Amino acid sequence: MGRYKKKVHSPLETMALAEKLALLVRPGDVITLEGDLGAGKTHFSKGLAKGIGVKKVVNSPTFTIIKEYEGRFPFYHMDVYRLDEESEEDIGLDEYFYGEGITVVEWASKIAEQLPEERLDITIRHAGEDKRYLLFEPHGEHFEQLCKELAEWE
Ligand SMILES: Nc1ncnc2c1ncn2[C@@H]1O[C@H](COP(=O)(O)OP(=O)(O)O)[C@@H](O)[C@H]1O
Ligand SMILES: [Mg+2]
Repeated sequence: MGRYKKKVHSPLETMALAEKLALLVRPGDVITLEGDLGAGKTHFSKGLAKGIGVKKVVNSPTFTIIKEYEGRFPFYHMDVYRLDEESEEDIGLDEYFYGEGITVVEWASKIAEQLPEERLDITIRHAGEDKRYLLFEPHGEHFEQLCKELAEWE
């Protein structure tokens, strides 16, 4: 229920969709991104950052896990590919998830147990060449409403 699906045809379209989403998010929101390497998770994150008003260039944070940016709100870009769910290591993710910024998490399934219940899950799938399918799965009322608004903008 409340899912939103969209097919895009170029990296620019992926970023434009993310920029639109940025107009609907509010402080404390968590957005997860799943998809194979090269699906477009980082491109989506770049679009989101732009929509949030981040002026710096957003690159893949693969070797740092978390990068912080300033826009209309703080913007936290995570890539948790290298995090080990089994490890006891507490790197304080909750500070981000329950803080005042917008958090976007690439490869979020790696830390499934640590994610907040209220969040927006986005899966990106290859659909040939520069085409991609994006599936938005909202968890919680706020994100259901957000997906509804995205769908109405079509
Ligand atoms: N529709 C599209 N959306 C996003 N990226 C696309 C699209 N079509 C082609 N690409 C290309 O796919 C790659 C996606 O890279 P990236 O965003 O780093 O993916 P990920 O973070 O999922 O590994 C880039 O080289 C980009 O140019
Ligand atoms: Mg990436």
